[in-house]
Formats: sequence, structure tokens, C-alpha cells
Amino acid sequence: MYRTHHCAQLTQADLGKTVSLVGWVDSLRDHGGILFIDLRDRRGITQVKIDPQENAELGKLGASLKPESVIGVTGKVVPRPEGTVNPSLPTGAVEVDATSLTIHNLSDTPPFPLDDAGGEKVNEDLRLTYRYLDLRRPKMRKNLQVRHLATKTIRDYFDAQEFIEVETPALFKSTPEGAREYLVPSRIHPGQFYALSQSPQQFKQILMVAGVERYFQIARCFRDEDLRADRQMEFTQVDVEASFVEREDIYQVFEGMLKKVWKEVLNVDIPTPFQRMAFVDAMNRFGVDKPDLRFGLELVDFSETFKNSSFKVFQATVAGGGVIKALNAKGLADLTQGEQKNLEDVAKSLGAKGLAFIKVEGGEWKSPIVKFFSEAEKATLTEKLGVADGDIIFFAAAPWEKACAILGRIRLEAAALLQKRGKLSIRPDDWKFLWVIDFPLMTYDEEEKRYVATHHPFTAPVPEDVQYLDSDPKRVRGQHYDVVLNGMELGGGSIRIHQPALQKKVFEDVLKIPQDMVESRFGYMLKAFTYGAPPHGGIAFGLDRMVALLCGTTSIRDVIAFPKTQKGQDLMAQSPTPVTEKQLRDLHIRTVIPE
Ligand code: AMO
Ligand code: AMP
Repeated sequence: MYRTHHCAQLTQADLGKTVSLVGWVDSLRDHGGILFIDLRDRRGITQVKIDPQENAELGKLGASLKPESVIGVTGKVVPRPEGTVNPSLPTGAVEVDATSLTIHNLSDTPPFPLDDAGGEKVNEDLRLTYRYLDLRRPKMRKNLQVRHLATKTIRDYFDAQEFIEVETPALFKSTPEGAREYLVPSRIHPGQFYALSQSPQQFKQILMVAGVERYFQIARCFRDEDLRADRQMEFTQVDVEASFVEREDIYQVFEGMLKKVWKEVLNVDIPTPFQRMAFVDAMNRFGVDKPDLRFGLELVDFSETFKNSSFKVFQATVAGGGVIKALNAKGLADLTQGEQKNLEDVAKSLGAKGLAFIKVEGGEWKSPIVKFFSEAEKATLTEKLGVADGDIIFFAAAPWEKACAILGRIRLEAAALLQKRGKLSIRPDDWKFLWVIDFPLMTYDEEEKRYVATHHPFTAPVPEDVQYLDSDPKRVRGQHYDVVLNGMELGGGSIRIHQPALQKKVFEDVLKIPQDMVESRFGYMLKAFTYGAPPHGGIAFGLDRMVALLCGTTSIRDVIAFPKTQKGQDLMAQSPTPVTEKQLRDLHIRTVIPE
């Protein structure tokens, strides 16, 4: 038996007992010849004392120890001397006076400090190379624990609601209309490929046809996307589908799930029902379809005000069908030239021609363009934006979606600058949940010169809009919904098309997918729908994103045990790697490496 107790267990109630503990050497201190070891296991820390005066053999062994070595200790629980009690540790009133010590494994010196402060300072690549050490840090251990608790809570919740967990294949087939896929060559079918599942979307719909009625899965998904702080090539969805449901049913089930998770993990009561906002309003007011509602700084439209402006850029933009949007970054008139240049660069990276501004200082409007503004135009700006001394107003003149997107980003950047100055408080624990609804079913893709599904091609149109599918597809709203939390898209889903004829029409007539491709890629699904498909709908949540928010981090890499880097590498196991000629031959593959 390795241990009688764990390292967070012993208290004054155990005084006098002989106990055995195992764990890692968290730290070693020598006080006047007596060795103190902070012994750490998953649960916590217990102080161990080795006195060479009492036992020279033990003292010698203790002196050979190095931090992070794995040891076992047997000894007697004794009180800590007056003045050395540590009230911040559960075990802080006692220590174990060692009578025997076993060294299970000595450790080399870790390449970085394993406390939270030290770990935060080192390069993430180093942490990922030695992930097994990084995961020993208290913060990372806590993140794993939170992930476990969130997942367990979700499973219990769906079980109680009579959803059943069904596993679907990771090896699926290549389907158009989604994210870029990972292909897996088949050895026994030369020249043919599986695709790793981007999401269980099609299988979960088929499960509805199969009569499962209420399905969920904590599902691994694979997408060959450019990686970011909130995106991995391999990530986890809480995936759900149910039959005989409408949008309201899904909202209710998911609000209940989130409420339970927040209660169990953080002991926080989040109010339900969540606020709802139409996509168009989210864009108009916040410039993005995942608005952060923890602060204002809303966008305002001034197209009407400036349609006859003597500032030609504004006048011409409105004449060409574009819009003039403005944002009052309240109290940010003191931004530095560098900060202003940076904001302009951000705007330009989103396709802006410039970032016109007005600074209000000492009662004066300062801007290269203010000379073009009439008194009436200034009065309208003052009224609608609540302009006051110390403010700076930014403008975007562009087509609607672009103008919204530009100022939406400027809004976030301005908020960060205001927060840095202590003029705005945005707390990570201010939970502002939101449903974004009424997305357009289709979006016109300028490159492909055709409509593409805003979400995916299985989303059902809003019934009263079906009549415009042929004549005016962009007018058709989808029965799609996204859950947004503090500026992050947590999840999304929809009520699906369950009539085979309508699904076929969307594939062929609206999305213009050639008929033979519809047959080869989606034929099985259309066929399944002809055998009694119930009305159904569902949603999928980014588990990694949710856990990241619960853990107060913005990077999902912090809540995934073994994530890939931004460049898609596993630095610890060193992947991807080349493979042998034989392996390629067996798979009927020849590679062409670009110069
Ligand atoms: P969607 O593509 O919106 O919907 O994905 C659902 C949620 O999954 C998370 N997510 C990701 N998380 C980390 N890394 C990624 N690369 C990544 N991509 C997506 C997001 C997102 O909101 N089948 C549909 C759902 C449905 O209609 O039921 C789907 O996959 O949090
Ligand atoms: P210009 O007349 O081109 O010198 O522009 C005057 C100001 O308006 C500069 O600050 C530009 O950055 C800004 N500006 C130019 N085009 C736009 C636009 N489409 N939207 C917002 N600001 C712009």
C-alpha cells in the first residue's frame, strides 16, 4: 500500500497517528540542518520534516532529493511548532515527522518553474513541449478539474431530461458546404478517402429518423481551419438533437443546461430566459453577430444625416448604397498617436479606406473633416451620440456589412483602451448570455458567385419566408440560433429541414450544387427522409470555449490537455511527421512536396 492518506487530508485530528503519503517534492527547504519537504499530490500539500540528528541514514537520503521527484514517506503526524502554522493550507497546522523515505523516481530539474506565476511567464511553446510538467501547475490542474465537472454536469443534466448519449463515427465521408476537412486514405479501397467528422450533424439527423427522439453526445470534431485562441483543429462539441421541437424548446433545454453548469461549477445563478437579439440588430448596434453586452459604446447610423454632406466620402458612400456609421468612444480623446494609428490599421485590415474621427477637447471639435460638417449635422451627432468633452467619435463609411464589421472591431479595441485607463470596467465574471436569432438563411458569396448557407444547408427557413426562396433568397430568414456569451460564440443550431423535397430544392436550386453531387454526397440522407423523418432540431456547443470562460481564460488551449499550437503542431509528441515510403505505398498515396 503506497499511502494511508492523501496530501490535503491530515489535520490536528490526526495528531499522533502513523501515516504514509506519496507524491511529488513541491519544494525543499533546509532550516538549520532540518529538511522540510512540501509533499504534493493531486489534492494538496503536506509538510514533511526530516531531522538528520534523529536518523542520519534518512537525513542522507533526504539530502539527495530534488524538486519534482516522486517519493513515499512514512512518519508520525505532529503539530507544527508555534509560529510556523500556515493557516492558508488545510494541512497547515501539522507536519509529518518522517521515519522512512522511499525515492520512487528522482526528477531532472524542470525547464521552467511549476508554480502559477512562473508558468505564466514562460513561452507557451515550452509549456506545450513539456505539457506533463505544465499540467502539474495548480492552475492547469484546476482547469482539468473544471472541465471534468462541467462535462459530468452536462451528462447528468441530459440524462435527467431523457436524452441518450449515442456515439457517431469519426471516420465519415467528404461532404461539401462545410469547413475544410481532414481526409483519411483508405487502404482497402485504393484512391478513396474518408473524411474526419466536422460535426455529427448528419448522423444526429439520421438518429432522429431512427426514432431516437432525444440524442446528445460529447463529440470530438475535426476541422482543418486556421487556428486561433478560440479554435483548434480538433475540438469538442456538446452536440444535441431532438424530435418534435420548436426553437423555444431548444432555448429552454439549453438555458437549463447552462444554468446548471454555472451553478455546479461556479455556484453562480444565471438568470433565464436569456436576452434575444435579431442578427440585423446585433450588427447594427454592435457591429458583430456575437456582441459583448458587458458594455455599451453602441454604433449609430448617420446615413440619413450625411446623405447630402459636403464631405464627399460620406455623400458618395450613401449615394452608392452604403452607410455611415459612428461610434462615440466616450472619454478616449486622450488616446496617443500610436493608439490612434493602431486603430486606423485595424480598420484598414478590415477593408476600410480610412477611419475618420472627431476629438472633442476644451469644447472644441478637432478633426480634419469637421470643416465639412454643418451646424445641423453636428447637432444631430451631439444628440444621438451624447457627445461631451473628452470624447472621440469614429466613423466608417462603407457598404452596410463592412461598415458594421469595421466599427464593431473598433468598439472592442476602444473598450480595451478605456479599460486600460480605468474608465470602463469589463469583468470576466459578468455573465451576459444572449441568443442571436433571425440570421439570413443564405449569404451571397462574391467569390463563388452563388448563395451559400449561412450556417449549414440543413437549416430550415422561417415558414413565412419560404415563398422567397426562389425570388429573393437573401430575404429568407433561417430558423437558426446562436448562443453568445461575453463576445464569444458558445454554440449554434437550428430547426432542420425534414421534408426531402424542400431539402433537395435547397441543395439544387438555391445552393446550386450539381444534381449528381447532391446524389453522391447527400443522397442517403434524402432517402432516409422519405421513410418518415420527424420534425427535428438541435444545437452544438463548443465545450472547450465554455470551459475556457468558466476558467477565466481566453485561450481554449488552456483547457485542453494536449492542444496543438497555432501552427497545428503537437510539440510534445512532435507531430505531424513524415511517414515511410512503405506506409504511403500501402495507402496508394504519392506526395508532392512544394519547393
Ligand atoms: P458550428 O459549426 O457552429 O455548428 O459549431 C458549434 C460550436 O462548436 C464550436 N466550434 C469550435 N470550437 C473550437 N475550435 C473550433 N475549430 C470550433 N469550431 C466550432 C463553437 C461553435 O459555436 N452541426 C452544427 C451544430 C448544429 O446545427 O446543431 C455545428 O457544428 O463553439
Ligand atoms: P480624405 O478626404 O481621403 O483625406 O479622408 C479624410 C478622413 O476621412 C481621413 O481621416 C480618412 O482616414 C477618413 N476616411 C476616408 N474614407 C473613409 C471611409 N470610407 N470611412 C471612414 N473614414 C474614412
